[in-house]
Amino acid sequence: MPRKISQIRPDIADPALIAEAARLIRAGKLVVFPTETVYGLGANALDPAAVASIFEAKGRPATSPLIVHVDSVEMARSVVAEWPDAAARLAERFWPGPLTLVLPKQDKIPARVTAGLATVGVRVPRHPIALALIRAAQVPIAAPSANPFMGLSPTEACHVRTSLGSRVALVLDGGPSSVGLESTVVALKEGEAVLLRPGMISRADLEAVIGPVRVAAAEPEGEAHPAPGMHARHYSPKTPLLLRPPGAPAPPGRGVFLCWSEPGSGIRAIQMPADPRAYAAALYSTLHALDAENLDWIAVECPPHQPEWAAILDRLRRAAATS
Ligand code: TXA
Ligand code: MG
Repeated sequence: MPRKISQIRPDIADPALIAEAARLIRAGKLVVFPTETVYGLGANALDPAAVASIFEAKGRPATSPLIVHVDSVEMARSVVAEWPDAAARLAERFWPGPLTLVLPKQDKIPARVTAGLATVGVRVPRHPIALALIRAAQVPIAAPSANPFMGLSPTEACHVRTSLGSRVALVLDGGPSSVGLESTVVALKEGEAVLLRPGMISRADLEAVIGPVRVAAAEPEGEAHPAPGMHARHYSPKTPLLLRPPGAPAPPGRGVFLCWSEPGSGIRAIQMPADPRAYAAALYSTLHALDAENLDWIAVECPPHQPEWAAILDRLRRAAATS
């Protein structure tokens, strides 16, 4: 259990609680905080020991780089060594928001944060509590999703309660995350843009602002990877997740179908939203709740092969992968 869980209203962002969380961050402690994508497990990005404790708490291999959360373009520019025109344009259009930019890092960002890479991922989250926390702490905050390595990301504070343990000093409970899927990650280097992780800001959204964006090939398992979210298996519930075409028959045993179209009769089904944004916002909390039921399987109706569903399909495929 985390040491303390405190509810905080996004519209008020209680200054005393934000000040306490900021003090903990500056003291090298871990604080879980809400963002619009998923909850983050945060530490002072400039403090190597604090960053090391993120990896310990998550059980995450040191080869996975962390995203550095900043409150402004100005703070972003203080952690990166280059700020190309494409970064300026993407930040102008999508920040604060669910977009991470990977750029060459400045020396003050410890190698621990970036898993030894010469680049760092930065993003300005679109959540009043996250922004207030970074502002009050006056340091960039390194934060992966606040789940054990390979597990489902948390979109509500209750998803964090049992999983991360007493190393976490404080959980700020700001209610459900509105986007519900992890940020889009795009690397900008040598005039090229490479999509490392799809998100609800789509490739087409990026291309409308900066022109062609290449999609990174998935990294082979076990090799040094520029993007840990690119592991074939990731974002998984404990219950086996099966990706099934619409109307597929139920497998043996106890399970539930998640449908975006009309569910068939005679099976236990949960009707998911048919709109991709609403679907994304509901997906992880639905999976967290079902995972607690100890079912034999969770069958998810394969979403439409359309660009607005690309990030959802990506996460479902990884959750369904068996290795
Ligand atoms: O929405 C999000 O991005 C959430 C919230 C908390 O901000 N964070 C998150 O962090 O999903 P994490 O650690 O679970 O995923 C980090 C992703 C990796 O999949 C990787 O693609 C990318 O960030 N990343 C970070 N630094 C990178 C770097 N230097 N080079 C390449 N990829 C990097
Ligand atoms: Mg994660």
